[in-house]
Amino acid sequence: MKTTRIGILGLGTVGKGVVEALGRQNTVVIDKILVREPYRYNSDLPLTTNVWEIIEDPDIDIVVEVMGGVDPAYEYLSSALHSGKSVVTANKEVVARYGPELMELARQNRQGFLFEASVGGGIPILDALTWHLRATPIHAVEGVVNGTTNFILNQMEQGMEFSAALQRAQALGLAEQNPSADVEGWDSARKLSILAGLAFSSWIHAEKEHVLGITHVKSCHLRRLHEMGFGLRLVARAQRQPSSIGFVVAPTVYPRGHRYLKLAGSQNAIGIFSEAGTTWIEGPGAGGIATASSIIADIQRIRFSIPDREPLFFEDFPAADIDDSYLIFTEDPYQPLPDIPDSLQKGAGYLVSPHALPPETGLVQYRFRIQ
Ligand SMILES: NC(=O)c1ccc[n+]([C@@H]2O[C@H](COP(=O)([O-])OP(=O)(O)OC[C@H]3O[C@@H](n4cnc5c(N)ncnc54)[C@H](OP(=O)(O)O)[C@@H]3O)[C@@H](O)[C@H]2O)c1
Repeated sequence: MKTTRIGILGLGTVGKGVVEALGRQNTVVIDKILVREPYRYNSDLPLTTNVWEIIEDPDIDIVVEVMGGVDPAYEYLSSALHSGKSVVTANKEVVARYGPELMELARQNRQGFLFEASVGGGIPILDALTWHLRATPIHAVEGVVNGTTNFILNQMEQGMEFSAALQRAQALGLAEQNPSADVEGWDSARKLSILAGLAFSSWIHAEKEHVLGITHVKSCHLRRLHEMGFGLRLVARAQRQPSSIGFVVAPTVYPRGHRYLKLAGSQNAIGIFSEAGTTWIEGPGAGGIATASSIIADIQRIRFSIPDREPLFFEDFPAADIDDSYLIFTEDPYQPLPDIPDSLQKGAGYLVSPHALPPETGLVQYRFRIQ
């Protein structure tokens, strides 16, 4: 088999992981790497600051995009596909927004467009959704797909307030300097768009009303939950409903012992619920080498076969809320609740409601699942 030649766009955490992992094999050769400031890198690497030297190089077979962001990544990826190259990307933002369009462009140009690394870093979840779990219809897919919020919630459970826990995550390099995508839930929502798109053939563009992050979570609530035998995680869930796709990212309460509450570091866990049963996949959701392993798997898949030549059809289902129970506290979770109908299950300072209460109640409401 001929050697495959690749060009890499971006040389940060994941780009360096790809370079390191490819150094261990000789069937895939790195022709050029796009960077902005070459003096910052090892001069033995084939660096360029001109992206067109990669996109227009007839010897390059596959473009690997690990820059992040929509602009200019989207333009580079579509140009690469137009010029007859396959594309592998880790960029969830571009895939969540333009996935179907780029898949169709790849098909028209008889190229591959693969993005395993864009969800769950090193976990082979998209491969499982696309190939392994297609025998029976999938009714739901959900997961903890953001390690930064796990770290922050764990710190808060031990008494730190949100802003201090976030600063600590930034100091340890676990949160970006601009952490809004992580803590406001948009990073999880982009990953959920991709998971739902592949599970239900319906590409959902997340809207504000379906995405709630962890910025309003209070440390005293986490301590109270802990005393009651529960914990909180930022969970992304999509499910097939009669005429919509239920789509929610929200802090959700689980009983102690649940797999989500045991996730350490950057571990992610994703569950796929189908008529065949539930499949759980857990593993490293981030990190240079872990994410590079997904990228290399995509490169190998393209080397051995050009995937997705059949036209893909995405049905246009609207996104809707998911009916969950709620666990509800006052601001101070030890204070008695205001007057609430007796029909709702009440405890000392909390109540469980089968639906969200109106925001005017001023109560703090967390989605609540017991399994
Ligand atoms: N880190 C992970 O564990 C992980 C896991 C899964 C998916 N991903 C995804 O992988 C992608 C890369 O993430 P990362 O963590 O490797 O980010 P990163 O460490 O910030 O690296 C991105 C690199 O791309 C370069 N870059 C950005 N725009 C560029 C441009 N226009 N021209 C040339 N170089 C450019 C940056 O250069 P400068 O340094 O000059 O800005 C930086 O070196 C993102 O889409 C991310 O969501 C990351």
